[in-house]
Amino acid sequence: MIKCCIFDLDGVIVDTAKYHYLAWKRLANSLGFDFSEADNEHLKGVSRVESLKLVLRLGSVALEPLAFEAALADKNAWYLDYIHQIGPEEILPGVADFLAAVRAQGIKTALGSASKNAQVILERIGLLEQFDAIIDGNKVANAKPDPEVFLNAARATGVAPADCIVFEDAVAGVQAALNAGMQCVGIGEPAVLRQAHLVLPGFQNTGIDQVIAQLAAVA
Ligand code: BG6
Ligand code: MG
Repeated sequence: MIKCCIFDLDGVIVDTAKYHYLAWKRLANSLGFDFSEADNEHLKGVSRVESLKLVLRLGSVALEPLAFEAALADKNAWYLDYIHQIGPEEILPGVADFLAAVRAQGIKTALGSASKNAQVILERIGLLEQFDAIIDGNKVANAKPDPEVFLNAARATGVAPADCIVFEDAVAGVQAALNAGMQCVGIGEPAVLRQAHLVLPGFQNTGIDQVIAQLAAVA
């Protein structure tokens, strides 16, 4: 029986990828090379440090440890310049109603995100109070596809992994959910998220009862 819904943040609750992209592009440009939206696709669900390594590899740039740390700080400062301007209008369609319906049924809600900026993003979009537990990049040692973030979310809400549904837009996140022994709903393209138990384009025109029924049908 489903007792907890665990949501990834970036790409599931809010479309922050465009701001990550602008900040990474600015960093790449400052280092003398370009960075495309297609390049940015490879960074979805990837931690900040691993993302920087991928960006530097694209530009064939090597940075000493101090410069690497400075680049991380610059990118995050530029990203936060955008984040500090967002509001509830950036919540992806259908998400707020879906969350409210989950909570109304007495099902717990948790955030399971790689982002170290999750708290400020949830504050800006006004959803901070909608989660029983928030497990973000500051609270885990191992990045997705390691199941740590989702297992911590289950533990924090007191729910067994088998009674959790994870909503994820990144391949590594889907793998993390499966590694945690949870049900997984991919948010995005079926061809990309083929390992998920069910893939939806988003939260519009669906509800928690429908999702639970669809998962039961494919089990
Ligand atoms: C993930 C995003 O949710 O969080 C990645 O999909 C991002 O693109 C990662 O790199 C870390 O985010 P932050 O906010 O800690 O830099
Ligand atoms: Mg995501």
